[in-house]
Amino acid sequence: MMTKQPTNLRRRRFIRTIGGGVIFAALPISGCSSFSSDIPESAIAAWSPEEIVNDISDPRIRALAWAILAPNPHNRQPWLIELQGKYDVLIRIDTERLLEHTDPYGRQILIGTGAMLGLLDIAAKQFGYNTETTWFEEGVFNSTSINSKPIARVRFIRSIELANHDLFNHISKRRTARSVYDNNTPPTKALKSELLSLGTPLLDNRVIVEKKHAYLSDHIKRIAKKAWKIELTTPNTYLESAQLLRVGSMEIEKHRDGISITSPLLVAFERFGLFDRNEFPSPDSRIVKAQLDDFNQTVDATPSFYVLTSQDNTRLTQIMAGKTYVKAHLIATKHGFVMHPISQALQEFPEMSQLHSELKEKLISKTPTSDATVQMLCRIGRIPNGKTLPKPSPRRGLHAYLVN
Ligand SMILES: Cc1cc2nc3c(=O)[nH]c(=O)nc-3n(C[C@H](O)[C@H](O)[C@H](O)COP(=O)(O)O)c2cc1C
Repeated sequence: MMTKQPTNLRRRRFIRTIGGGVIFAALPISGCSSFSSDIPESAIAAWSPEEIVNDISDPRIRALAWAILAPNPHNRQPWLIELQGKYDVLIRIDTERLLEHTDPYGRQILIGTGAMLGLLDIAAKQFGYNTETTWFEEGVFNSTSINSKPIARVRFIRSIELANHDLFNHISKRRTARSVYDNNTPPTKALKSELLSLGTPLLDNRVIVEKKHAYLSDHIKRIAKKAWKIELTTPNTYLESAQLLRVGSMEIEKHRDGISITSPLLVAFERFGLFDRNEFPSPDSRIVKAQLDDFNQTVDATPSFYVLTSQDNTRLTQIMAGKTYVKAHLIATKHGFVMHPISQALQEFPEMSQLHSELKEKLISKTPTSDATVQMLCRIGRIPNGKTLPKPSPRRGLHAYLVN
């Protein structure tokens, strides 16, 4: 825990982390440049898939190189991918990469895998293939745990006509943006109408726009802020997230997953042993307060929310939620918008259960069944003028997921 501050620290700065909050707050006025630690280019090389698979003729590998750019919880990239025969891709979950505390039933892990499969369909189409998927060929996981049985067998089938997929060009431009958004720019009519066209009888997706739905939007903000506080002040969930922070170029390069921290100061603190990710900070500490303040500001700078709910919560529905979510995010990208899932209140750990129910009550629009679930809650908006998009997040690279 950071109890002391170096004397040269004069002003505070917030460093973003997983929930859109901050992890520590203090920046010297000068003198940190020697500790600068950007995201190494090698850790984000996967974001130029065309260069990596340029001379590979197998369409499965070419499409997979794009699919692994999918959004996924805590950037765990929990995929094991097997090429079978000439046409099939078999997908399993890497059970070493689950999120035991923040995602105890593996719901978010399946959403992230659904997002990856969604991009696989889009990229296959772009390369002239349709996909045909067989789900859970050795049986579906139960509702509380995940194992390494296959989730999906995706067969590539040559399509007669070459069909460019409208969203393909936006895959490598998509970013999860955890910063403040321009409060005066809610999604345009065109964006909303494209987003709403993604709904299905199983999955209901909505855009909640502040001015029109002020009451609901205020509720969401209140719940999101409380939920972040709970995640941050519950030892298991805080520590799980803290241990997935990758602090500085060396760690980012080594792991190429988790959430990248590039603040020179935090890197320096880490090097001097002043930032211990195995230690749970007191809920009253400056570090926790700073993170809460920053998250609250970020949530307040949200012109609209994108919400994805389902009437049931089967494993297939979770995957479909991921497929829908990634399409929504690509559509937003196409329209010049960014997104940021804020999942704390959706998480199924005991300390969160009351807020979880409250959110469900507010957001499930039809008469809820007992299994009705809020699958995704996201901020959606525009980066304010003059601010830049975040850099892409690292990927481990295709070879890391391929098991053959
Ligand atoms: C199911 C799911 C839940 C997520 N929840 C959060 C969240 O609560 N807070 C957050 O900052 N990002 C969240 N994300 C975004 C991931 O952290 C992000 O996709 C990942 O770090 C990779 O970054 P990228 O989307 O920019 O490629 C979530 C993503 C998914 C698919």
